[in-house]
Amino acid sequence: MSSILVTGGCGFIGSHTIVDLIQQGYHCISVDNYLKSDPTVLDQIHEITGVKVRNYAEDLTDETALDAIFKSNDIEGIVHFAALKAVGESVEKPLLYYKNNIGGMLSLMQAAVKHKVKHLLFSSSCTVYGDSKELPVTENAPIQKASSPYGYSKQVCERIIEDVIIGQEMNAAHLRYFNPAGAHESLLLGESPINPPLNLIPIITEVGVGKREKLVVFGQDYPTRDGTCIRDYIHVMDLADAHTKALKHLMQGNVKNGKVEVFNLGTGEGTTVLEAIKAYENVSGKKLPVETSERRSGDIPAIFADFKKAKSTLGWNPKRTITDIMDSAWRWEQKRSPH
Ligand SMILES: NC(=O)c1ccc[n+]([C@@H]2O[C@H](COP(=O)([O-])OP(=O)(O)OC[C@H]3O[C@@H](n4cnc5c(N)ncnc54)[C@H](O)[C@@H]3O)[C@@H](O)[C@H]2O)c1
Repeated sequence: MSSILVTGGCGFIGSHTIVDLIQQGYHCISVDNYLKSDPTVLDQIHEITGVKVRNYAEDLTDETALDAIFKSNDIEGIVHFAALKAVGESVEKPLLYYKNNIGGMLSLMQAAVKHKVKHLLFSSSCTVYGDSKELPVTENAPIQKASSPYGYSKQVCERIIEDVIIGQEMNAAHLRYFNPAGAHESLLLGESPINPPLNLIPIITEVGVGKREKLVVFGQDYPTRDGTCIRDYIHVMDLADAHTKALKHLMQGNVKNGKVEVFNLGTGEGTTVLEAIKAYENVSGKKLPVETSERRSGDIPAIFADFKKAKSTLGWNPKRTITDIMDSAWRWEQKRSPH
């Protein structure tokens, strides 16, 4: 039986995507060294789907280990999530990020070419657009100079894929995520507690359960409708659905061999920080302790996706709203922090 190799399959987006792939009839294996996750995720996937996924606890940069995995499985497609993702840490430890994210990509591509893998999906990010002048941002918006080693690693990986697959019997897609959040409806999967939250939604839910004293809103003088930054939050299960649809699109041969297609994955709805807080207060019935502070350097005022291409090409339409995202994120946080 042919398999889909999910790298980083025990991480946040990888685990939710495996659930969706299994439920759509795919056979998945995973490579995850548990750098930012743990093996209990596999039990949770089993509980949701009834399927035990095999994870190879190997580092992607280990070419020998990777080659052995490809030799012992018939891998038809790869969904490549495994990477380090903390922007601030990448500024402090650029070599770590380049080694892990670009090094991992290089050994994965080497194995994929050697073993004639046909399809590849890559986890990219809206960070490639920087502070885009065009809003909502389309896939044609110019790529801006990356402001961190993390952001640059995404740009380099996109380019590596584009260069390597020329002349190969392989097609690929870069999936540029906006702001993934939320949890599986069963509350068996959600954002890993191993990753200290850096994004607004898990920080809000941590304040909500008392793990943090207060929420600090950085800047209330941005040129937006209420003066706070706008981001495009996308539910992780909508994102998972997009991966399954994009994989199907590649497998149906809709993208020529040697070519890469790019898709923005967001809801098209920008949410301000104050609106996100309101959404939390509505679902939880609790008031959040909020403090305001000066703008933080590096934050762009607003970004949200034009996802028409994913909608018309893949038939993808994100179903969950900011309220659904907040509701599942809050219930996930409560489950992990019983009071
Ligand atoms: N979550 C977001 O906000 C976001 C936004 C845009 C893009 N992305 C990208 O999506 C992908 C998945 O993100 P996530 O939120 O699920 O992150 P995550 O940290 O939850 O998952 C990544 C997984 O990859 C594994 N991993 C990392 N390096 C590895 C290596 N060298 N070998 C083997 N395993 C390794 C980790 O152990 C972890 O389980 C990443 O590439 C990330 O950059 C995430």
